[in-house]
Amino acid sequence: MITNSTGLHLTITDPPQTLERETGLIGGVSVVVSRKKLKDLQGLFADRNAYTLLDPETLVYSVQAHMPVDEGTPGGLFFGNTIVEPGKVGNEYFITHGHFHANADRAEYYWGVKGEGILILMDLDRKTWGERVFPGSLHYIPGNVAHRLANTGPIPLTVGACWHSDAGHNYDEIDMNGFSARLYEVEGSPRLVEVCR
Ligand code: F6R
Ligand code: MN
Repeated sequence: MITNSTGLHLTITDPPQTLERETGLIGGVSVVVSRKKLKDLQGLFADRNAYTLLDPETLVYSVQAHMPVDEGTPGGLFFGNTIVEPGKVGNEYFITHGHFHANADRAEYYWGVKGEGILILMDLDRKTWGERVFPGSLHYIPGNVAHRLANTGPIPLTVGACWHSDAGHNYDEIDMNGFSARLYEVEGSPRLVEVCR
C-alpha cells in the first residue's frame, strides 16, 4: 500500500487510518476483523460440561487488525486490537486461544484500553505467569513467549497490539499442550492454577 510514495511528493493528506482513543477501534482501509464464538473454541476451556451448557453462538472475542503489508513480509508491522467479552465457562474466565508466534522469536506490544483482565504468558520451559491489564497498562511480550488474554471484569476488555508482519501464529503448540496454568475465579478473585498433566 504505502510502498510507492512517488505520487505523494509535496502533498499533505489525511492518514488512511484512524485510531479512536476512547474505544481503541481502528477506522479506515486495510482493516480485517475476525470473531470467535464459543462454538469456534471447542476444547479451549477446561470445564467441558459447563461449555456444553452455554449457547454456542456466544461471542467470546473479536480482533481488528490493520495489515498494510502481506502477512509474512519481513520488516513490516501490524496494528490491532482484541475485545474479549465478559464471561466464564464454569469458573474459568473467557480467554483468547493463545499462541506462540510462528517466527517464534518475534516480540509484540500489548496495551490496555478499556476494562480489566490478565495477560497470561508462558515461556518455552512452560513457566506461566500473568500481568494485570487495565486502561493504560503496557505489556512487552518477548519472543518465545506464548500469550493469551483473559477478561476478569464485568465489561468488554479492549487491548491494543502491535506485532511484526512476519511473526505469524503457532496455534498448534497450544492446541496440543495448552498453557501450564489456567485462570480461574477463586473466592472472587483471579488465580492462576497449575494444570495437572
Ligand atoms: C497478534 C496477537 C493478537 C491476537 C489476538 C487473538 O500476534 O497476539 O492480535 O492474535 O489477541 O488471540 P489469538 O490469535 O490467540 O486467537
Ligand atoms: Mn501475538
